[in-house]
This record gives sequence, structure tokens and C-alpha cells, in this order.
Amino acid sequence: MTQIGIAFNLKPEPLTTPVGATLATAGDETADPIQRDEEPPSNEAGRVRAARERSAVMDQPDGALLVQEVSADDEFAEWDTAETIDAVADALGAYGTVTRLEATPEFPEQLRAERPDIVFNMAEGSGGKNREAHVPAICEFFGVPYTGSDPLTLSLCLDKSRTKEILSHYGVATPSFVVVESGDAVSGRWPALRYPLFVKPIHEGSSKGITERNLCQTPDDLAAQVEFLLETYAQPVLIEEFLPGAEFTCAVLGNGRGARVLPIVGMNFDALPEGALPVYGFEAKWLWDRPDAPLRIFDCPAAIPDALRRTIESTTLRAYEALGCRDWSRVDLRLDAAGIPNVIEVNPLPGILPNPEDNSCFPKAARAAGISYGALIQTCLTLAAERQGVRLRRVRA
Ligand SMILES: Nc1ncnc2c1ncn2[C@@H]1O[C@H](COP(=O)(O)OP(=O)(O)OP(=O)(O)O)[C@@H](O)[C@H]1O
Ligand SMILES: [Mg+2]
Repeated sequence: MTQIGIAFNLKPEPLTTPVGATLATAGDETADPIQRDEEPPSNEAGRVRAARERSAVMDQPDGALLVQEVSADDEFAEWDTAETIDAVADALGAYGTVTRLEATPEFPEQLRAERPDIVFNMAEGSGGKNREAHVPAICEFFGVPYTGSDPLTLSLCLDKSRTKEILSHYGVATPSFVVVESGDAVSGRWPALRYPLFVKPIHEGSSKGITERNLCQTPDDLAAQVEFLLETYAQPVLIEEFLPGAEFTCAVLGNGRGARVLPIVGMNFDALPEGALPVYGFEAKWLWDRPDAPLRIFDCPAAIPDALRRTIESTTLRAYEALGCRDWSRVDLRLDAAGIPNVIEVNPLPGILPNPEDNSCFPKAARAAGISYGALIQTCLTLAAERQGVRLRRVRA
């Protein structure tokens, strides 16, 4: 029987109450601790928590300021819930015996002791800009095959500026940008860049540090927001031109010439509250998806002309190849003022929330292609096995 390891980081119950929860649950002894995932919390409990947060945070006199404090608060935002890990383990069970290998400091010893035939890697990692590369690097060290991209690609994609340098080298459109490492370097005047500008911490995901305040119209806005992000996230800040057009995210499955884009997910910004900026940032992912008014932000397959679909698909595949992605990844794009798809970022460890009610783009795109959640996980496994010469045999339906 094939031994399949699953490497993951399980989201802990927080020991201390986050800022948002303090605001949201004051006086409510029964309130659940806040859970976050790569994408919006959209099971019932998550929605209720998000609703509490939203009403408590957004309705404060200076809601926008509080939102960005909440956004900075959860160090485990990218980790997976037990529900997601169970669903993946269940899908993998179709091909063998599944062993859970939590990415704790004991992971290397456990991996060496278990020596699975292949590891399904979904560990987001902890600590530093190479956190997503740790598990694959350890697997390589012990000669254990694993799913997905290699350490180099995972680290590159967790650096938004290195990603853009590589994309530019290969002629894949991405907004013009600069990187600043200290407040002293921010004059707000970058002659090569045209306002409005958008700023982001360079090594984060899950919209940590990306709120409406990151859209800067003036040098003063820019200097203030860059200073805030530098101080809060203790990492360089990317300043790039704001792309005013429609937004899409593309799930890719496969390798080499066999890589294909699943039905494109379009962002329907009309679903955001009136006056909200057309951005899929922290507010949209975490605060505006409520039980009484769920956000209908995804449109899949996106209703776009065929010619645009083809351009988005080819840009996506060029980005996938340029970054050296393997088996699967998700590419985020937006149209510039001329209607040309530009790549914003590449996610080689895509969010995979199992519940169809969840706003999780990759499983949603797979469903639109007629691929169930289980089949999606199994496809990633079989692609990786094929690539590395691991023989797999299906043991149950
Ligand atoms: N240059 C830009 N122009 C316009 N909007 C942008 C730009 N960069 C980012 N955004 C907006 O901010 C959102 C989040 O940015 P980005 O995808 O880089 O962050 P992330 O936290 O890594 O996202 P994810 O949750 O996919 O990991 C995008 O989905 C988009 O709506
Ligand atoms: Mg993104």
C-alpha cells in the first residue's frame, strides 16, 4: 500500500484575543475565537465572527484605521483549519494510507521515521520569507517526493518584487514598481511611477496588510501608508501602479505542455458595499462577507469575450512557467488602463477550502470544470507522482 504523507500547518485556537475580537465581542462571553484562512471565513461560524467584526470595526469613527490594525493581527492567517486538512486527507486516502505530518519542529524526524512514498505539501510554514520553502526543502534533503513547486519557486513567489522582476524578464506584463526598505527612502516622489499607486508588504499573503488605505492618491498618502506598513510588518514595501481594470484569478493544473487554466474566476466588485474600492483586499475577504448578506464576489466562469479569455490564459501560463510552478498554482491578474492583463502575484500554494459555500477560488474553478474537490486534490497528487516516477494505484473510489 502506498504511504502518503500530508504536510500542513494547523491553525491554532488563538491564546490571546485579537484586536478585532476585542472590539467585536466585548461583553459577549460566548463569542468564538476568530479563525482565519487564506480566503474568507465563510462557514457559518466564520461568517458570524466576520459579521461581529465588521459591525464592531467598520462602524467605529475611524473604521479604516482599525481595520488595518486587525489585518496585522493574525500571524496564522495563512494556516489551514482542521476541516480543510481532513478533506484533503480523505481525498488522498483513495490512493493509499495517509499519515499526517504537521510542520512543527518535529517534522524532519517524523518524515525520516515515516518515509512516505510521497508527501502532499500544503504547509504554509512559519517564520520568515522562506517559510513556504521549508517543507519542500526538508523533503528534498531526505529524498522524499512531494507535490507542488520547489523551494526556489515558493520563496520567489513569496517575494512580490522578485516575482515581478522575473515576470518582467520574460515579458509578462506586471505593473511598474519600486521597493522601499526604510521610511527614509520615501519621498512619495517616484518619477517613473504614475499615481494612483498601490502599496503592499512584500512577503505576506491572505491580504495581510492590504486594506483600502493602501491605494495612495498623493505623495503624502504614500509616505504615511508606507511608513505604517514598514513599521507594522517589519519588511520591505512594494509600491506599484494601481491597475484600474477588471480582476481575475486563474487556477492552473498540470506541467509543461499539459498545464491548463481552469475556468477563470472574475471578481464582481459590484458585490462590495457602496463606495468600497474595487479591491479584493482585507475588508472584502474578511469583513464584508456576512451571513445576512454573503458577498457574491466571484463570477466563474468569468463572463468575458473569448479573445480576452485567451489572453488571460496565455499570460497566466507564461507566468506559471516563468516562475517554475509545478502541478498547480493560482495566478492573480488585473487589466491595466489599456485592457491588457497584468499579473499581480502568483500563489504556488493555493487556498483550498473544501466547503462549496466558501469563497475559495481554486476549488470553485475546479467545480466549474466538473472536477470535484476530491478529484482536484487527487489530480495534484497524481501529477506530482507522475513527474517524480512514483507509482500510484487507486485503492478506493
Ligand atoms: N497593482 C494593483 N492594482 C490594483 N489592485 C491591486 C494591485 N495589487 C493588489 N491589488 C488588489 O489587492 C488585492 C490583494 O493583493 P495581492 O493579491 O497582491 O495580495 P495577497 O494578500 O497576496 O492575496 P492572496 O489572498 O491572493 O494571497 C488584489 O486581489 C487586488 O484586488
Ligand atoms: Mg492575491
